[in-house]
Amino acid sequence: MSYVHGYDDRESERLHDQAGALVELLHGDTTYPAGARVLEAGCGVGAQTVTLSARSPKARFTSIDVSSESIAAARARRLPNVEFRVADLFTMPVETFDHVFVCFVLEHLPEPVAALQRLKTMLRPGGTITVIEGDHRSAYFHPDSAAAQDAIDCLITVQREAGGDALIGRRLYPLLREAEFEEVSVSPRMVYVDGSRPDLIDAFTRKTFTAMVEGVRPAALERGLISAERFDAGVRDLYRTAAEDGTFSYTFFKARGVNVIEADANDLAAQLAGQGGSFGDLLGRVGE
Ligand SMILES: C[S@@+](CC[C@H](N)C(=O)[O-])C[C@H]1O[C@@H](n2cnc3c(N)ncnc32)[C@H](O)[C@@H]1O
Repeated sequence: MSYVHGYDDRESERLHDQAGALVELLHGDTTYPAGARVLEAGCGVGAQTVTLSARSPKARFTSIDVSSESIAAARARRLPNVEFRVADLFTMPVETFDHVFVCFVLEHLPEPVAALQRLKTMLRPGGTITVIEGDHRSAYFHPDSAAAQDAIDCLITVQREAGGDALIGRRLYPLLREAEFEEVSVSPRMVYVDGSRPDLIDAFTRKTFTAMVEGVRPAALERGLISAERFDAGVRDLYRTAAEDGTFSYTFFKARGVNVIEADANDLAAQLAGQGGSFGDLLGRVGE
């Protein structure tokens, strides 16, 4: 797979900073009960796994990624309730999990619905999927800068050419519905950073978002998407928003859906006929 952010140390650090700064915002409402079997698909170096594991210490996580290097780095974290595996979510043998968690993965996949459908086959009836994604056009900032938007557009274009969608956050509801998840709910999670939040200025504005845009420089120049001067001005302007009088906003989207397997009315009717049941019983059970 061509992965727009790459797998080097800087990317590991970026994912780690990103996870650390956004823990409450993104994970505050995710905990799994004791004994729950949870599949984390595309865990990377385990940046989200640390939080998942700590917040649900009695759940059992299977965290997979196609990158053996990332899995090696993730295993070094020695998380007690996590089994890290090198596996492709599209081809791994089907197992049954109570819940699935996917963060910042669909944005890189040419067929996100197929991925969701595959993951659904591994969910028990009534099991949930949680998906977190960003949307790079949700970024706005002060001072405003057309050059900065051009640099961000390079990232969006390079990701699109690699088969991904950097604007996927806004599509989560339709994607989950297309994959036939039920009870889908999406909640936008806005990060707002100003001079009063030096921790977020550093971890999010500088080391996450701007570093991510900066990382696409070679690919953008190679493709002739932008001049070096314009790109560098855009990145400079993004760093400028991290000054005491600057502000930066970005919205993540967190979706949850349920794998509702509807009772087959004919099967139920046959079972009930055998047991001397009534239509009232049948409707009662289907409505459960
Ligand atoms: C942006 S990283 C996100 C990592 C982690 N979820 C996080 O939030 O820090 C996307 C990850 O998805 C993995 N990935 C992409 N396609 C995959 C697939 N088909 N099966 C498993 N992992 C995949 C990549 O190797 C990469 O590590």
